[in-house]
Amino acid sequence: MKKESRKFTVTPWKIEGNIQEEDYAKLTKEFGTEPLTNELLERIKKHTGELHYLLRRKIFFSHRDLKWLLDEYEKGNKFFLYTGRGPSGNVHLGHLLPWILTKWLQDKFKAKLYFQMTDDEKFLVSQKLSLEETRNYAYENALDVIALGFKPELTKIIIDTENIKKLYPIALKVAKKLTFSTVKAVFGFDNATNVGMNFFTSIQSAPCFIENKPCLIPLGIDQDPHFRITRDIAPKLGFMKPALLHCKFAPGLGESGKMSASQPETAIFTTDSEKDVEFKIRNAFTGGRETIAKQKQLGGMPEKCTIYHYLLYFFEPDDKAMQEKFHACRMGQTYCGECKVKLAETINKFLREHQKKRELAKKQLGKFLMKD
Ligand code: TRP
Repeated sequence: MKKESRKFTVTPWKIEGNIQEEDYAKLTKEFGTEPLTNELLERIKKHTGELHYLLRRKIFFSHRDLKWLLDEYEKGNKFFLYTGRGPSGNVHLGHLLPWILTKWLQDKFKAKLYFQMTDDEKFLVSQKLSLEETRNYAYENALDVIALGFKPELTKIIIDTENIKKLYPIALKVAKKLTFSTVKAVFGFDNATNVGMNFFTSIQSAPCFIENKPCLIPLGIDQDPHFRITRDIAPKLGFMKPALLHCKFAPGLGESGKMSASQPETAIFTTDSEKDVEFKIRNAFTGGRETIAKQKQLGGMPEKCTIYHYLLYFFEPDDKAMQEKFHACRMGQTYCGECKVKLAETINKFLREHQKKRELAKKQLGKFLMKD
């Protein structure tokens, strides 16, 4: 679905404009999804004992059919997880958001996971990447997935061009139910769109139908249009509709907008060096005042501050600590310089660990890759 309004556009291949907190409610309405309610969160908590901070803070904010999924689960009908990555470059922290929750869900529900690397898609949409390059990124990015700690016995990484034998018969069944007019309407394609793209959504549907069981897909809200199609087609193929759990876009380091691979200064990549991180954080946009005197007098504006948002989304899972930081900034008791230094240290500590695990993942790759 192409969502256009005064200031932003959200499609699976283009996210533009300055998306504000209040826009997510609009997105929910216009995409026709359901808000993630406290009642649903409580139901999840019944099974998990606690709630992940990404749920508590409504960074995952919307869903489709989660209630049904939990009904099935409570009847003893276990679900599997499915998510993915378009391998067009290195992974940044924003990409990790849905994967972090997926890992938590895998642990809590002992759920099997299919993780799809769409090297075909990224080749088809890119003006510059060759198929060899996108495939290469699929393997590179798989290391980041593995580094997050997914269980090898419960996880299968699918690389589209490698595992096509498994996907193709399923994708064909989807494609036969999918018309050109639907992909035009949903994605805004026109006569100049290459035919690979017209077919591609069938490939992204395929992992939902590897098993005829309830399926839960944690994903960025931009990917919802693909699965609207999948959900329409599922019953026609005798399958259950996959349930979806939608995530917000990770904040960037610039004055506005999300973390974006095409603007590397707004994003922290998992492969960044300590110096890169220090530089990017030093230059990040904050909610601070021009002078220390003004900061003391007026207080900072944490709600506008990218440093604050990085803590909220990634690095401070403790709600109480988060509130204290907000308050201290508001009262003008903290200064941007010190917050930046602390955050850069925290990120570098995380990246040192992640990069170590990423190296170790090279040896584990074979255990994770799907074999036809
Ligand atoms: N198309 C997605 C992207 O470009 C990758 C992807 C494939 C995906 N399957 C998915 C994302 C399932 C979320 C859920 O990033």
